[in-house]
Amino acid sequence: KTGHFTYDPGFTSTASCSSKITYIDGDEGILLYRGYPIEQLAEKCDFLEVSYLLLKGELPNGAEMRRFVGDVGQHVMIHEQIARFYSGFRRDAHPMAILVGVVGALSAFYHDAIDIYSVEDRNLTAIRLIAKMPNIVAMSYKYSTGRPFMYPKRKLGYAENFMRMMMGDPCDDYIANPVLVRALDRILILHADHEQNASTSTVRLAGSSGANPYACVAAGIACLWGAAHGGANEAVLNMLEHIGDVSKIPEYVAKAKNKNDSFRLMGFGHRVYKNYDPRAKLMRQTCHEVLDELNLKDDPLFKLAMELERIALEDEYFVEKKLYPNVDFYSGIVLRALGIPTEMFTAIFALARSVGWIAQWDEMISDPEQKIGRPRQLYRGVSTRDVKTISQR
Ligand code: SDX
Repeated sequence: KTGHFTYDPGFTSTASCSSKITYIDGDEGILLYRGYPIEQLAEKCDFLEVSYLLLKGELPNGAEMRRFVGDVGQHVMIHEQIARFYSGFRRDAHPMAILVGVVGALSAFYHDAIDIYSVEDRNLTAIRLIAKMPNIVAMSYKYSTGRPFMYPKRKLGYAENFMRMMMGDPCDDYIANPVLVRALDRILILHADHEQNASTSTVRLAGSSGANPYACVAAGIACLWGAAHGGANEAVLNMLEHIGDVSKIPEYVAKAKNKNDSFRLMGFGHRVYKNYDPRAKLMRQTCHEVLDELNLKDDPLFKLAMELERIALEDEYFVEKKLYPNVDFYSGIVLRALGIPTEMFTAIFALARSVGWIAQWDEMISDPEQKIGRPRQLYRGVSTRDVKTISQR
């Protein structure tokens, strides 16, 4: 688990790709970004440092960080014509639908200017995406409220800038609570990358054809939207509000265990983690910090969540199937405490994951051995047969 990793031949034969970016051990509950434990990164770094790490493979020193922050700052502005895309959407459009459209449309702005086989162009693409996503995401919220879009301020940190563009307005100076800013920054770090999850695999597959990277990221956003994936944090809050009262928990836990019932406990289980998701532990800690800071410990929804976690973790079905709370179980509660509307939760997941997507895309495109992805299938249809004319059918 440390030093040089040796591959189990059986594992590599089933692996969809090889990568040096993120390592997960689902049985041990280990998550490493470029070899660094997520627990240490969440404690000692901010999101832009982690972004640099995912992209470059090393944590930046002081001079490298100043240069990176400066580069991102140069590209935070959104072309005024891009702002006009939003007016084509209904005000009640889901933010993820808007993000798929607007991020995909960035390829119309930067299509001809990108040679995906040029290191410089790929670096610029990554910088542009990291720089513009906070504003694009914040604008999808502001548009839904009819309140004015905000311009970013280069002197603010990444998470603080996003909170100001989301929650502030031009009439006054929005001063973000530093505890809440740090909590959001940690949410972004914990969601930045996660090996070959469904949306990252989507970005890699789309990118393997040589498609424009912004269009590939838009494909990743579309995949992340699903409730089984990135849509889970929004689904957790909807589920908690639907359960409504602690007394109803046993009824819903029973539904989740019933194979004939489609109900699933949102925020529980994982394709890979058969131990506690290490991000969930950190998210739970952040949850307590935020609720303490905001004096929301008696928040009925949080108390309901804690009771659901306690009951599920004691239930033999969940214990036997190794269904632990995942990162989405707590992130939704933290985002709600930050005053962020439920429909924005997955958009914030996409904001964070866009760094992992572009880092994984870059790793794939820069591999000289890379070929177009072409998954095969197990054909289970009918065998060869002759066509009868319609009069014979
Ligand atoms: C993310 O891949 C990634 O890395 C994703 C992600 C990332 O960072 O990119 O980590 C982010 O997507 C986290 C997961 C968020 N999704 C949810 O919280 C939605 C609720 N979770 C379930 O939908 C489910 O757990 C999945 C989709 C996450 C995983 O489903 P699997 O692959 O079926 O899980 P499994 O094989 O471990 O299931 C074992 C059993 C199955 O029953 P049997 O077929 O053995 O009878 O447990 C059951 C499942 O039906 N089960 C659940 C359950 N999750 C799995 N039963 C009730 N409630 C649940 N939440």
